[in-house]
Amino acid sequence: MTLDRNLALELVRVTEAAAIHAARTMGRGDATASDEAAVGAMRAAFGGMDIDGTIVIGEGERDEAPMLYIGERVGRAESGHPQMDIALDPLEGTSLCAYGRPGALAVVAMAPAGCLMHAPDCYMQKIAVGPSGRGVIDITRPARENVHRLAEARGVDVDDLTVVILDRPRHAELIAEVRATGARIRLIDDGDVQAAIATVDDSTGIDMLIGTGGAPEGVLAAAALQCIGGDMQGRLVFRNEREQERARHMLGAERDIHAVFDLDALAHGEILFSATGVTSGDMLRGVRFKGNGCETDSIVMRKKSGTLRRISAEHHFEHKPGYSLEGLVETPGARLLDSGAP
Ligand code: FBP
Repeated sequence: MTLDRNLALELVRVTEAAAIHAARTMGRGDATASDEAAVGAMRAAFGGMDIDGTIVIGEGERDEAPMLYIGERVGRAESGHPQMDIALDPLEGTSLCAYGRPGALAVVAMAPAGCLMHAPDCYMQKIAVGPSGRGVIDITRPARENVHRLAEARGVDVDDLTVVILDRPRHAELIAEVRATGARIRLIDDGDVQAAIATVDDSTGIDMLIGTGGAPEGVLAAAALQCIGGDMQGRLVFRNEREQERARHMLGAERDIHAVFDLDALAHGEILFSATGVTSGDMLRGVRFKGNGCETDSIVMRKKSGTLRRISAEHHFEHKPGYSLEGLVETPGARLLDSGAP
């Protein structure tokens, strides 16, 4: 099956809608309201897509997430529409948006059924690099070795490399190990999807993402890196038996939940990927509201062509009533906002 390439451009509407609605809540300090705004808008926007989509990575299980839960069907789902698996995070970096910090995104990856790892909601040890590091990384080896291998592959000194690590107590040893190599380190509060993708763009100055973050975010990052020629490996990290049970259930009996998942195992096939900036970050500017409208920046990728499109859009709310502040509570997907959120 060959996918209609216009689907990639349809997908950007979905992440734009989520980003705009989330951005309205920026800085309120209410992570739940920010997330609900993004989720409602994204769900409503999916309703306009000519796909028969099933969410494989979403907001959680059906009993814990009212919208965009795992297994939910999205899209028009008419006869002839392609069956797609969808991984999404309507607001990647919820706290970043809630506190007005850089790097929040709305993000979706889509691929034919069976192409995206059904990652459970646990942690994943990750290592991600741009094209020059393809085939060079090995997550089973110490971080220092991976840093040296990347420097060699890039033909640069180790101290010219910049490694991004989530700023978490669990990373204290990792940070010390990378520091000892002489590589530069950028610690981030949240948002390792954008950091992973930034490794493919030389202008960001980011060469590697390493450390442990969310497993669903790992699949989203891998989908993007698969489209544009980067590399990534991941290994699930479990905190208890319940998480292991969940992983066995989601991955199926034939998959080893303790295995190293390479880029193909994380995401393969005809992937389409879209991300829109909510707050400005390394790759994308955030939503800028102007008059009765706003501007958004997005990146859209297609695995088949390897194309990365940067899409800057001007939105005029007089033509899009659902996007205006008043229209926000009117949009079908955003109705949740009526119940409790300011
Ligand atoms: P949310 O959007 O769910 O808040 O995730 C943000 C994030 O920073 C991810 O980018 C990252 O993978 C994960 O959280 C790290 O988890 P933790 O905050 O538990 O260390």
